[in-house]
Amino acid sequence: MDLFEYQARDVFEQHGVPVLGGRIATTPAQARAAAEEIGAKSGGVTVVKAQVKTGGRGKAGGVKVAKSADEAEQYAGQILGMDIKGHTVKTVMIAQGARIAEEYYFSILLDRANRSYLAMCSKEGGMDIEQLAVERPEALAKIAVDPIVGIDEAKAREIVDAAGFPDADKPALINVIRRLWDVYAGEDATLVEVNPLVKTEDGEIIALDGKVSIDGNSAFRHPEHEAFVDHSKTDPLEVLAIERDLNYVKLDGDVGIIGNGAGLVMSTLDVVAYAGEEFTRADGTHPKPANFLDIGGGANAEVMAAGLDIIFEDPQVKAVFVNVFGGITACDAVADGIVQAYAILKGHGKAPKPLVVRLDGNNADKGRQILDEAGLPKLERVDTMDGAARRVAELAAAVA
Ligand SMILES: Nc1ncnc2c1ncn2[C@@H]1O[C@H](COP(=O)(O)OP(=O)(O)OP(=O)(O)O)[C@@H](O)[C@H]1O
Ligand SMILES: [Mg+2]
Repeated sequence: MDLFEYQARDVFEQHGVPVLGGRIATTPAQARAAAEEIGAKSGGVTVVKAQVKTGGRGKAGGVKVAKSADEAEQYAGQILGMDIKGHTVKTVMIAQGARIAEEYYFSILLDRANRSYLAMCSKEGGMDIEQLAVERPEALAKIAVDPIVGIDEAKAREIVDAAGFPDADKPALINVIRRLWDVYAGEDATLVEVNPLVKTEDGEIIALDGKVSIDGNSAFRHPEHEAFVDHSKTDPLEVLAIERDLNYVKLDGDVGIIGNGAGLVMSTLDVVAYAGEEFTRADGTHPKPANFLDIGGGANAEVMAAGLDIIFEDPQVKAVFVNVFGGITACDAVADGIVQAYAILKGHGKAPKPLVVRLDGNNADKGRQILDEAGLPKLERVDTMDGAARRVAELAAAVA
């Protein structure tokens, strides 16, 4: 989960990372009120900053320095509603203006390839860090961080030495870097990036812009992270799926997909997208996957019913493909699950949609027989994955 800049700012503050005052606003009038309050500490100067989860806001016109509350109101009016790389700005942060002497760069991220963390640091931060990394990689220090040891005093010193900071600035930088490590480890982050990390004209080191990504797998030990979830962005079906413990991701097509095992489901998405190319509707569209849904290894009747229910709920879904390769859970158990799922859904007064089932693997024959004998409405059985994908695409294409 990526945090908004204002959320990252709050997290930094909690961990003792020096930040400037900031308040969010969703209307120009709120921005004015925030600027009156925040600007009091910085001679009336504030910065109006678009809160979107994408980079390059400054270059897109989403970061503007306001010299008065009037100007802050006016800039907020321009920035709110702006589209930045496909993200609509719904919130701005009014930040206290900093008197910047230098802009530095610092980040910690997960280095999967090396099974460690990586700290990156440069004296030349600011908006063009990506370009710097390509054109003059030597100006960006990269230091591996042992996940067990983390960034202690010695490691922080190694980082500031490698980045080539003047000795006078090192103690303050070491302190801030250690606190940023505290954010990274303490919040179970996979990315903490500060660009720019500035030195002010008074010689203070301050994090002016923060990007934090949190590892969702740590949610169980961070109930407080729930507050960071952007519910306006979460699909209602995904919310329902989370409540039911299903691995579901909404996509924008019209063929519902259920499978057992993430790998199988991912390849099912591919074969359905491929098969869909063959069928063109009158309006030029093709059938495409409507979702990812992995019901896992133990696909019992309740799980199958919960999954089918979510997929049938999706108004975009025109046909459904259940693709199961029996392993530890044999196909006859899965077939029983489908039969019971239909009974459960019928009990809830829900009508089934066209459904193509492919069962293969452990006890496939038994499973197929169960489905054939059950004679479920709108259900067809196709025994190969490609054949079933083709059939479900055909059924979905037939629905306007
Ligand atoms: N509070 C502030 N006071 C003074 N100047 C600021 C302040 N915040 C940002 N700036 C200036 O604006 C520039 C861009 O701001 P910021 O880093 O927040 O956005 P960005 O880098 O364009 O966005 P992103 O990090 O999403 O790419 C900074 O490099 C800095 O020069
Ligand atoms: Mg930035």
